[in-house]
Amino acid sequence: MKALLLENIHHAAADLLKGRGIEVTSLAGALDGSDLIGALEGIDLLGIRSRTHVTSEVIDACPHLKAVGAFCIGTNQIDVSSATHVGLPVFNAPFSNTRSVVELVICEIIALARHLTDQNTMMQKGIWMKSAKGAHEVRGRTLGIVGYGNIGSQLSVLAESLGMRVIFYDIADKLALGNAYRCSSLEELISIADVVSLHVDGRASNKGFFGMEYIQAMKPRSFLINLCRGTVVDQEALREAVLSGHIAGAAIDVFPEEPPNAGDEFSSVLQGIDNLILTPHIGGSTLEAQEDIGCFVAGKLIDYAQYGTTTMSVNCPEIHMDSSGVCRILHHHLNVPGVLAKVNTIYGDHGVNVETQQLATRGQMGYAVTDLGSPCEAELVAELNNLPESIRVTAIMEL
Ligand code: NAI
Repeated sequence: MKALLLENIHHAAADLLKGRGIEVTSLAGALDGSDLIGALEGIDLLGIRSRTHVTSEVIDACPHLKAVGAFCIGTNQIDVSSATHVGLPVFNAPFSNTRSVVELVICEIIALARHLTDQNTMMQKGIWMKSAKGAHEVRGRTLGIVGYGNIGSQLSVLAESLGMRVIFYDIADKLALGNAYRCSSLEELISIADVVSLHVDGRASNKGFFGMEYIQAMKPRSFLINLCRGTVVDQEALREAVLSGHIAGAAIDVFPEEPPNAGDEFSSVLQGIDNLILTPHIGGSTLEAQEDIGCFVAGKLIDYAQYGTTTMSVNCPEIHMDSSGVCRILHHHLNVPGVLAKVNTIYGDHGVNVETQQLATRGQMGYAVTDLGSPCEAELVAELNNLPESIRVTAIMEL
């Protein structure tokens, strides 16, 4: 088996893949279009980050590709729908940088409460401004978390351990961790919180959702933190609120328009304002998160390539099965009635015993994993492939 890893994926991924007997080629840059198709010749597993685009053209040109790993959080750079239709599982790392984001938020809450960035700027300019004015401890202050998902809930735990009082609001039902209090509305949260930290997802309805109305309704001299999506906060309204002194400070890591490359020029209406911390979308960018992403996604690719496991795949029906046979058949097919009966007839006709079988479906797609009691012949695989409902059939001989 061969894997191609692009875009400087952490070496932990290559180490894991090699440790499982998979040959790895690593390249520093991204590849697109015909360059990518050329590089994928003879490749079973592809690993990318956010800059390589796996389009439907690439997917159609590489039917030998067995799985794609996005060594990042998002999968917008992959035509997931096309991948699904050819039975190509896509994996990503949705949780690997959660802790990194949370640590930065905690750091920023304290930095805002102590005017750390302004103090540093003055010291760098040679001005000694020793004063306790406007500086606060965060102990006992109320943190309002909007969006209590992976990041929001972990922030809740760490903030409580600092002695903060945690309240949260989520549109979905969420278990309150520790002593966190669940607000019944966003308005309630905003009216109580000394710090509002936004951790909602990128659904369309969240575009511009934290606008002038909510910013003006925040407690006087409170802080706003946004490390989720750049389009969620109305930047002009925030600028006005900080300049007027209504908001005492803000920390913003994500922007409606972000330059594509490191070193590019950046401009924002939020520049040049005191106690407004701007960072270039680095919430999740730590070496620990990169290593975790490397191990997590490489593990998923290995589990699929060697066992057919699709747990946490972005697009495939999920199956995890212990080994019980000599040969394992992975059968991606259309989710229509009667497929399993046809498949099992073929096994019966070839006189092979089905030791274990699992079927899962997701939308229009079905995925069956079958352990057979004897080695399977190429003819059997060909017959499975010839079923009109079949999308992709793979036989794994050494379990
Ligand atoms: P998640 O999907 O686990 O949690 C999002 C939560 O927000 C869900 O519980 C959802 O019900 C809730 N939600 C959605 N819309 C809402 C609304 N209007 N009001 C209240 N609750 C709402 O996502 P996760 O992993 O916690 O990530 C949160 C955000 O952080 C995402 O937008 C993600 O893209 C961003 N992120 C930013 C990073 C950075 O480097 N700055 C790194 C990683 C994630």
